[in-house]
Formats: sequence, C-alpha cells, structure tokens
Amino acid sequence: MSEKLATLSFSDGKPSVDFPVLGGSVGPEVIDVRALYAKTGMFTYDPGFMSTASCRSNITYIDGDEGILQYRGYPIEQLAEHCSFLEVAYLILNGELPNQRQLEVFVDIITHHTMVHEQLVRFYSGFRRDAHPMAVLCGVVGALSAFYHDSIDINDPPSREISAFRLIAKLPTITAMSYKYNTGQPFMYPRNSLSYVENFLYMMFGTPCEERKPNPVLTRAMERILILHADHEQNASTSTVRLAGSTGANPFACIAAGIASLWGPAHGGANEAVLKMLGEIGDAKNIPSFIKRVKDKEGHAMLMGFGHRVYKNYDPRAKIIQKTCHEVLEELDLKDDKLFKLALALEKVALEDDYFIKRKLYPNVDFYSGIVYKALGIPVSMFTAIFALARTVGWIAQWTELIGDPDQKIGRPRQLFTGAAGRDFVPMEKRK
Ligand code: SDX
Repeated sequence: MSEKLATLSFSDGKPSVDFPVLGGSVGPEVIDVRALYAKTGMFTYDPGFMSTASCRSNITYIDGDEGILQYRGYPIEQLAEHCSFLEVAYLILNGELPNQRQLEVFVDIITHHTMVHEQLVRFYSGFRRDAHPMAVLCGVVGALSAFYHDSIDINDPPSREISAFRLIAKLPTITAMSYKYNTGQPFMYPRNSLSYVENFLYMMFGTPCEERKPNPVLTRAMERILILHADHEQNASTSTVRLAGSTGANPFACIAAGIASLWGPAHGGANEAVLKMLGEIGDAKNIPSFIKRVKDKEGHAMLMGFGHRVYKNYDPRAKIIQKTCHEVLEELDLKDDKLFKLALALEKVALEDDYFIKRKLYPNVDFYSGIVYKALGIPVSMFTAIFALARTVGWIAQWTELIGDPDQKIGRPRQLFTGAAGRDFVPMEKRK
C-alpha cells in the first residue's frame, strides 16, 4: 500500500507540499510535520498542544469521546478491580503484567529501596513547619539527584531501571515524611513486612508509641486511587518530565520538574481545590448561585474537578472513585457525609446545565478523590502530593520510553514572534 499523504496548499499561489500521515495501533492518525520548516520556512502554531502529538508512546491510551483509559491495552476498570498498585506499576514499566515470580521479585526490590539516606532526612529541617507538602516534595525529590547524580548513566538500561526502582520505592517515604514534618511527629521508618500501600499509610499515620492495624477496606481504597493516578498519557506534568528528560537531565531532577508542574490547580492541584470549593459552597442551597458565578466567569470562578482536555465524556477514573467513595464512607459509617452529598448534588446540577453540556464538561479524576482522602484522614494539603506519589510510576516509565526512543531530540519549540523588529540602540539622553 502506498504511503498516505496530507497535502498542504496555500491561497497565495505557493506550491503545495505533502506530508506523511502516520497511523498508530488505535486512535487518531497524525500528520508528520517534522519537515514543514525545511519545506516551507513555516512553523505550526499550537499553544497548549491542542492538535500536537509530541511523541510516540505505547504506554497509555485514552479515547476521550468514549471515556476509555487503558494502561498497556488493559482497561483501567479491570486493573483497578483486580490488581495491586505494584502489579500495575510493573505493567506500566515493563509492558506486560507480571507472573507470580516476577511480581514477587519486583515487590522485593521496591520494598528494599524504601529507606532514604539519613543525610536526606536533614533537608526537611530547612523547611518551615507549615511548608506546603508539594513544595517539600519538589525540593526533596530534586535533592535525590544530589545523592545519585554521579552514579547515573541514563544511556545504560540497568542504570535507568535502578533509578525507577529508587523513585517508586522512596516516594511514599518522602511524601509521608513531608506530612510528619508538618505535624511535628517523628518520621516513621518504612516496614518491610507491609505492602506498598499499607506501608505508606503506616508511615503517614503510625507513631512509635503504638501498633497500628491496617484496615483492609481503606487500604484497598488507597490502592485503587493510586492505580487510577499512575499514568495518563502526555498530560502537562508528564510532558514536563519528557521535556526536562530530553536535555539529558538525570531522572530525579526530571521527576522534580514533573512534581512542580503537577502542583497547579488546573492539573493535579485540582483535588485540593475541589475541597476548598465544596467548603466555600457549604450547603446545597448555595449551588445555584455558585454555578451562576462559574457560568458568568465571575472572578475566574471554575467548577474544580470538572472538564478535561481529552475527555469529552465522563472520566472513567471519576466513576471508579465515586464508587470507592461510597465504599469508604460506608466502612467508616459516614454515609451521610455532608461533603459527599454536596459533591453529588453539585455534579447533578452541572451535568444537567446547558453551559456544561455544551462544553462537554464532566467530572474528572480530581472531583471525588479528595472526599476519599478526607475520609481516610488525609489533610487537604497532602492530596496533590499523593497524586505525585502515584504518578511517579507513569513519569518514570515515560522518561524511560523517551530515552530509548530513536526519534527523541531535545524539546525545542519555536514561536510566532510579535515583538519589536530589529532597531538601533538609543543612547540614554535621547530616550523619551
Ligand atoms: C488533571 O491532561 C490530563 O490528562 C490531566 C489529568 C491527569 O491524570 O494527568 O487527567 C489530571 O489535570 C485533571 C484536570 C484537573 N483540573 C480541574 O479540574 C480544573 C478545572 N478544569 C479546567 O481548568 C479545564 O477543564 C482543564 C484545564 C482541565 C482543561 O482545559 P482546556 O482543555 O484547555 O479547556 P478550556 O479551558 O479551553 O475550556 C473550554 C471551555 C471554556 O469556556 P469558553 O471559553 O469556551 O466559554 O470550557 C470552560 C472554559 O472556560 N471550562 C470550564 C471548566 N473547564 C472548562 N468552565 C467552568 N468550570 C470548569 N471546570
């Protein structure tokens, strides 16, 4: 079959030019415009990457119109139902689900990398006690590069793999430490007898004074939330990790860049913003006036946890989290939780409102996750840090894919220049 081409023609009589059309395994085809500048002297203009595929990837697939999300081809619903977080992490990193032996080896490796260097512990005392956990995470994860920079050869696959293990293993420890530092409680060393998620909850909520028994329903809920957040194609933070990685920077520095990018309220910071928004609305009777403010775009008011660049349908993760929310509230005897009821009422109003229908705005992953976290006793300021913990798996898998990609080049976009055209220097005495 001959190569499919896209032809670009111009209204000013310039000769038209052809570009190859590339097909993936599933999803929209892409026009390969790499030769555009060489052929025409023009660039594409696409702020926000509305129509740009920035790379090839075989990790995560989203069909935004159908509300489909798959990791390595497996539907998110099945993975969330049947897998542990580390099983999913193995899948995302390696492309296949592990067999029993492979999973045991992987769990053992991760379990034995959970401690952090004692020197790293001292970084925490440089922060104020009330420092936002995401600020601490940016700093401490960035500092990891100071511990491993000299030993990393990013062109060596085993060296890349050990970096991935270290990051996945240490993020729960570093995240829990940022919470303990806030509260003034002692840092808890990881416990190798616990699962990944049990250990994280132990390091968050355990104290040296008493034994803590994990609650299986709550552990499972956290496990599921981590699975749902593990990867999501070329979102803003993942693209940040890839851009930093394209320069050859070490993976710890790249993940720190991803954490910074995730923090914003339009991205991972939305889970924190949802709780603040629900707190401000306060009562179902205030929903209509809040929705009016959003529709009037009054003071940049937004329905946080709603809308998505790719999903023009229900985010499949939001559906699973809503169900998890029911289970957790039932387990904790909080069925009448005021915030959950308010969120359900707000969702109903929005889904029936023309403004949201016309713009295809549905709940996203962040809409219900905060209510589950809150029920688990996690403070609002930790929500985005937990997102970062889970997304570290996706970031490091995407970074690894990038480094091994023969098409990879340093990320270097161009611009449509709108500033002053060349002009001569004006001496001070002649300036107005
Ligand atoms: C995540 O990309 C990923 O995959 C991200 C993520 C992941 O797993 O990595 O899924 C995680 O980041 C989820 C998104 C969390 N953010 C929020 O919940 C914040 C609220 N949402 C919006 O900021 C917004 O919907 C975005 C940022 C998520 C998407 O932005 P887009 O694709 O650039 O869309 P847009 O801002 O251009 O919106 C189109 C229209 C606009 O109205 P008009 O100018 O056409 O009149 O819809 C409106 C927007 O004003 N709109 C909203 C809205 N979201 C979009 N109006 C009110 N409330 C909202 N939440």
